[in-house]
Amino acid sequence: MTGPAYFITGTDTEIGKTTLSSVIIRALVAKGFRTAAMKPVAAGAVMVDGVLHNEDVDALVSAANVSLPTGLVCPYLLRTPASPNLSASQDGRTIDIPHIVDCYRKIRQKAEAVIVEGVGGFLVPFSRNTSSADLAEQLGLPVIMVVGLKLGCISHALLTAEAIRARGLTLAGWIANRVDPDMAFSEGNIETLENWLDAPRLGTMPHLKTFKRAGQYLDLDILPGWHK
Ligand SMILES: Nc1ncnc2c1ncn2[C@@H]1O[C@H](COP(=O)(O)OP(=O)(O)OP(=O)(O)O)[C@@H](O)[C@H]1O
Ligand SMILES: [Mg+2]
Repeated sequence: MTGPAYFITGTDTEIGKTTLSSVIIRALVAKGFRTAAMKPVAAGAVMVDGVLHNEDVDALVSAANVSLPTGLVCPYLLRTPASPNLSASQDGRTIDIPHIVDCYRKIRQKAEAVIVEGVGGFLVPFSRNTSSADLAEQLGLPVIMVVGLKLGCISHALLTAEAIRARGLTLAGWIANRVDPDMAFSEGNIETLENWLDAPRLGTMPHLKTFKRAGQYLDLDILPGWHK
């Protein structure tokens, strides 16, 4: 049985993609889907007991309930914390999008639901002539956009939505994420985005210390394919 699969992007780096991807994965698991996570490119890995680890990959894998080889979950586990094009070049790697798509297809065969966390913002480069947007396009998945609520997020969100649609992809929904608990006019920002973004808001995530019960802040039932 094939269940939902989504590509999670965001308005920037460090705005809650991993946090929200993990919440979404847990919600899918709670619905009864055998759920896998993918982080195709992770820039910033450290050696622990002889094995390379990345925080995002570890967080996503611990939320998922389909266990997979790390080489499938994260085909490009890069050591250098930087934009993926720079990180890959530092590590002597070349990010090959068809290889990532191949890994995704293998994961799709092993899981009912798959959540793919993008890297950085939507258009972050992978090389001199490829980017994260090319990957999203070739995966062809509906996109969920995490908007990190902070000054400047409105334009970032609208630009991201335009870029998603320019690639022929569907913006399935967006999530307002209160990364900055002191943000001024946060409600006004959310209302503005509701007016300008032609996609449903899937919820507003409060600023939290723990995300174990954070699924209650999202209304994921409106997404296609969500029901088992
Ligand atoms: N709603 C929230 N409340 C409190 N802290 C949050 C919230 N959302 C995200 N954070 C914190 O913000 C930081 C960045 O979040 P996260 O790692 O999910 O971002 P990201 O977009 O995945 O970053 P990257 O671009 O590195 O993948 C983390 O420390 C996370 O715990
Ligand atoms: Mg992340």
